[in-house]
Amino acid sequence: MAVALVESDKVGGTCLHRGCVPAKAFLETAAVFRTVGSAGDFGISAGKDAPSVDFAVSQARKQQVVDQLFSGLTGLLKGRSVTVFNGSGTLLDGHRVRIAGTDGSTIEVTGTDIVLAPGSVPRTIPGFDIDGTVVMTSDEVLALDHLPASVAVIGGGAIGCEFATMFADLGAKVTVFEALPSILNGCDDDIVRTIARSFKKRKIDVLAGAVLHGHAPAPSGGTSVSYGDGEQVVVDAVVVSVGRRPRTEGLVSEDAGVTIDDRGFVVTDSWMRTSSPGVWAVGDVVAGAPQLAHVAFAEAVVVIKSILGEPALPVDYSRVPWAIYCHPEVAFAGMTEAQAKAAGLDVVVQKDPFGGNSRARIIGDTEGMVKVIAEKRPDGSAGRILGVHMVGPWVTEQLGAGYLAVNWEATAAEVAQFIQPHPSLSETFGETVLALTGRGLHVG
Ligand code: NAI
Repeated sequence: MAVALVESDKVGGTCLHRGCVPAKAFLETAAVFRTVGSAGDFGISAGKDAPSVDFAVSQARKQQVVDQLFSGLTGLLKGRSVTVFNGSGTLLDGHRVRIAGTDGSTIEVTGTDIVLAPGSVPRTIPGFDIDGTVVMTSDEVLALDHLPASVAVIGGGAIGCEFATMFADLGAKVTVFEALPSILNGCDDDIVRTIARSFKKRKIDVLAGAVLHGHAPAPSGGTSVSYGDGEQVVVDAVVVSVGRRPRTEGLVSEDAGVTIDDRGFVVTDSWMRTSSPGVWAVGDVVAGAPQLAHVAFAEAVVVIKSILGEPALPVDYSRVPWAIYCHPEVAFAGMTEAQAKAAGLDVVVQKDPFGGNSRARIIGDTEGMVKVIAEKRPDGSAGRILGVHMVGPWVTEQLGAGYLAVNWEATAAEVAQFIQPHPSLSETFGETVLALTGRGLHVG
């Protein structure tokens, strides 16, 4: 196919430049800091002084990672002869795309098919205008070259929890404000409880059910965030992470025939077709889709196969892999216990803590567990695996087997047949599934 790509900033988008990649680079900085902090436990001397962080260096390293991937991506596009137009695209009628170039030019291109993939931008809330220095969104946090000593994080979702642990592990005092009764809404209750306990132990304050009023400069420096019944907390920085909104302003003209819902998301069917024939949408802009880069990739594959006339399976949003890189990490696929019960399913549940895992002991990181939810058969035994939920060391790298089990619609007995290497963190998943079959070696 002959492909034109219209990009108003840099190819790679939020994920590469202001999201997944830089955020995880900073979380790795926090992980190194933690490792050096406990080097003495391993008999390693890391110098007489307590470890310290030079965040300008962390920032430069993060930028190097991003720049290398950006140059790789640019090369890929060139290698496939994709024509990149620098500018803002607007879809007009008749599959025409008007491009307002960053160089001031205006041109029009047409395509037999059009894919809308404009992504999303951080949401903001009244009383907390983004100034980029005191009040920030993830965009500004990822450009910081110094560490604030104290931070208020507004919103305890994926972004909020990742930043909360990054700042706390690097020595900042962190307070998380969450409007709902608990953080990490959508995760299994046992996983949320484990994270909440870990936050408490590490002195990250979580104010759930909090109502925020605003903030004003504090006489002592920093800013005073007011909440609840006249309560205040003084911090150096405020991070607003209350969700992301679709970037659809100026994306399509009215006569393009693309339906946008009242929240600004593009409406598609399961094959990513919009209401206008030949116009498709993928990524954060799609109504009802999880805002995850890997989901956008999967949606794009559906689109390309469909354009080529190949059979394509829609993405099943209820079973995509989730990976949250806070410490301890969270990863899951499929139903939570509460979702399964709400769907009227009879379930068998098994949990296994990492505390008994030899590799976890070896690396000195035993916090967390694996939880597997399976359908209960009439004889009471565990049948099809409905959900796999993990919290603990490197679980984002361990979810693969659980994701496969859920999406393959495998039974506990089928998965229990497979061997996990020893010693490895993945044995905890293997052990949990074994226990579901009634043949657990250590639990069940
Ligand atoms: P989110 O929707 O995950 O969480 C936002 C949180 O803010 C919610 O818990 C909400 O109740 C809370 N909130 C909203 N208004 C509030 C207020 N006025 N006061 C206090 N709390 C308030 O959104 P987030 O964390 O900003 O992430 C945006 C998107 O990016 C999400 O879809 C998320 O899943 C995705 N993402 C995923 C990551 C991952 O999977 N590792 C990492 C970063 C983002």
